[in-house]
Amino acid sequence: MPETDWSTAAIVARRNRYYSASQRKFQPYETPLILRRGQGQYLWDETGKQYIDLLAMNLCISVGHAHPKVLQAVAEQMAELPHCTTMFYHPVPAHLAEELTATMPADYEWVVHFTTSGSEAIDLALMMARSYTGNIDVLALRSSYHGATFGAQSVTGIAGFRHCVPQLGGVAFVADPNPYRGVFGEAVAPYLDEVDQAIGTATSGRLAGMIVEPVQGYGGILPCPDGYIAGAFERVRAAGGLGIIDEVQCGFGRTGAHFWGFEAHGVVPDIAVMAKGFGNGFPLAAVVARRAVAESMAEKLLFHTHGANPVACAAGRSVLRVIREEKLQENATIVGAALLGRLRELQQRHAVIGDVRGRGLMLAIELVADRRTRVPDAQAAARVFEATRRHGLVVSKSGPYRNVLRIVPPLCLSLADVDEVSARLERAFAAA
Ligand SMILES: Cc1ncc(COP(=O)(O)O)c(C=O)c1O
Repeated sequence: MPETDWSTAAIVARRNRYYSASQRKFQPYETPLILRRGQGQYLWDETGKQYIDLLAMNLCISVGHAHPKVLQAVAEQMAELPHCTTMFYHPVPAHLAEELTATMPADYEWVVHFTTSGSEAIDLALMMARSYTGNIDVLALRSSYHGATFGAQSVTGIAGFRHCVPQLGGVAFVADPNPYRGVFGEAVAPYLDEVDQAIGTATSGRLAGMIVEPVQGYGGILPCPDGYIAGAFERVRAAGGLGIIDEVQCGFGRTGAHFWGFEAHGVVPDIAVMAKGFGNGFPLAAVVARRAVAESMAEKLLFHTHGANPVACAAGRSVLRVIREEKLQENATIVGAALLGRLRELQQRHAVIGDVRGRGLMLAIELVADRRTRVPDAQAAARVFEATRRHGLVVSKSGPYRNVLRIVPPLCLSLADVDEVSARLERAFAAA
């Protein structure tokens, strides 16, 4: 193994010297956090200090860091054949495609296209929708995040993620149906009227589709209210478009009650995109589409070099199995409800907490300067965020105003952890 220098000064110096500005930009804490090891829901920094990982490394760790079954599957496949390019046949990705489609609603014929990242999968979903419908226009939500590539960035609403370069045309944004601080308040109907307005005035009237995260992640953990996705998709389909669901953050049982976020909304998408926790740390993503939709792309070649990589797919198979065997979806329901209860108690004690919300193990604390006006308090969020680190928690700051603490741990967080997390959060809020 080449030697690795773990000293803080050397890591910082190398990063500053050799990373491009775009890769350097993410510096959440005032001083760097260097992580060395992970096990289950816990992390250790290079000094040996332990943290509870409430971020799951940006939701990439679904079943726990270094899960032995995922490790074994990966090691065995890596030793046998590390890569099999898509033109040759291999059983592991084909098995995974079958197992993944089995998690989707029955009565539909689903097919899968594997990619390496969520952004690639979002691009492909947009391409598929445009190719199938023959239409161009796509609707997206204003506080959405769908990825970094040109296509995915074009349907991303949050300005901080949109670079000053020409984006894809044909995208219109609609107001977030956010009951806490949405422009139309709590009722769903005005947000659906807004979809009608957008179709009538910001598009050609003929849609390729609409893309929605059932729980907006970087938007600040905003669960779509009941009736919104169904109503919006009805309107989109009437205009010739497809319903595209982004499950990158909320999929794989994270919301507890359902395996997929869309299942809580009584809709069946035409295309669904999944990534992050799928590979439990291995780059693995997929577009799952109704066969007829995907068939529209049969004419031309399209491949992602590492898409359907057998090692990543072995990880994915193992993740699906571990979620089932260890009842992690049920765990997300039970532990998530307990944690949400504790967050509500925390809210009683700290006036700076305007709202707590979420489903399963996808939770958020929103900080405000004044509960009545709901003015976002990014500075308080930053102070609490620094304090959480000192108290051994890893969370993240999110939302268009950077005033939301996002809590999205590995799905194996336990009830015993909930006690510890609440005690540490209490201390962090008190200290900040
Ligand atoms: C909801 C959502 N969609 C898509 C993506 C893009 O995935 P990736 O970063 O793997 O390209 C992300 C990434 O954070 C995401 O949160």
